Amino acid sequence: MHMPCPELYGNACSSESALLFVREVSRRIQHDLKSGIPAPMFKKCFRILIALDYDVKKALRDYHIHSKKSNLVEGLVQIALKSLHQLNKGYDDVKLECSKAEIARKQQLAQEADEIEHLLASMDITLSLNQKPLNLNKLKECVSALRCLEVDIDLQARLAFEVDQMSESSEYSDMNFSYGSTPLSSWIKVIQDPAVKTVLSAALHCDGRICMVWGSSLGWLVFYAALTIGCTCWGYELLCTLHEFASGLKQKLQLDHGLVQLQNADLLVSDLSNVGVLVLTNQCWDAELMQKASTKLALELPENAVIIEYCQHLTKYCDPKVHSAAEKAVLEIVATVPVPVSWNDSQIIHVYRKVAGQI
Ligand SMILES: C[S@@+](CC[C@H](N)C(=O)[O-])C[C@H]1O[C@@H](n2cnc3c(N)ncnc32)[C@H](O)[C@@H]1O
Repeated sequence: MHMPCPELYGNACSSESALLFVREVSRRIQHDLKSGIPAPMFKKCFRILIALDYDVKKALRDYHIHSKKSNLVEGLVQIALKSLHQLNKGYDDVKLECSKAEIARKQQLAQEADEIEHLLASMDITLSLNQKPLNLNKLKECVSALRCLEVDIDLQARLAFEVDQMSESSEYSDMNFSYGSTPLSSWIKVIQDPAVKTVLSAALHCDGRICMVWGSSLGWLVFYAALTIGCTCWGYELLCTLHEFASGLKQKLQLDHGLVQLQNADLLVSDLSNVGVLVLTNQCWDAELMQKASTKLALELPENAVIIEYCQHLTKYCDPKVHSAAEKAVLEIVATVPVPVSWNDSQIIHVYRKVAGQI
């Protein structure tokens, strides 16, 4: 099914033509529902709102609320109408913006797929610390599944709704739950840094040592770590929506329990006694969470564990005087690696090693 053609409404870029456009969308939603297809046109309309930078979070929350009610069609149509009307855009504008956004995303995904192909073809196979050959096809499958998942409207709607509820009912802010992703090539750049590679081998050398990701989201870094380093990796994610979708993907990729474990829990309750590598996705965390998390890792992580963080909150623990009762540093910096991530072209990833000091 196609969107109504622009000629139908002339070239006028008025809010009236946007309204006509949405009416057409609504008519088709009704038609789709009659034929038993659940509102695909509304989803398409929604993508347009996202492409146009409309207050998407609000629209997503409304969508989630309405989709639970019996007057689903009416609710969805009202939201679509209101949203596009507020945008005050004509149909031509809307269509152009939408196709620009779709083209840009397609180009980005094609470029990412090329990079992965190139990277995996040239990659040092000993990257896998336990010397097992890397499962390249699984890595590729994992990235393309995650890219599809992250733009799923139902996921985004549930997520926006849960973040809202969570920030009202807990001490966490909504910023604390911001979504972001790290390209596989960026992860590989970090773990292939020569200094990082050396400390990673030492940290995972002892039997039973695992990798852990704090704030594992859809599972990105957990899957990367398990499939590149080849060690058991645990993820802690507080939001049920992200946890459930990540668990579904784990099942789809047939990653067994011995390789990947996903916990729907607060990272502050995690057990660090056998952790060799800890990844903190801390770029948006609240200051209080960051403080509790850094105290926890300084006290509980075993010696020689490697810590990878997205900011530089932990550099204070490299100073022997400021944070150590015994006047010994708790961490030492191993490397700083600039890499592109979804929210920044050059995020400086800080990598540390836990040393003997105590706070
Ligand atoms: C920026 S995102 C993760 C980014 C991502 N994995 C990447 O590839 O860059 C940070 C995650 O931390 C999660 N989070 C925040 N507070 C948490 C807590 N107390 N316990 C567990 N997860 C938490 C958020 O829900 C969010 O999914």
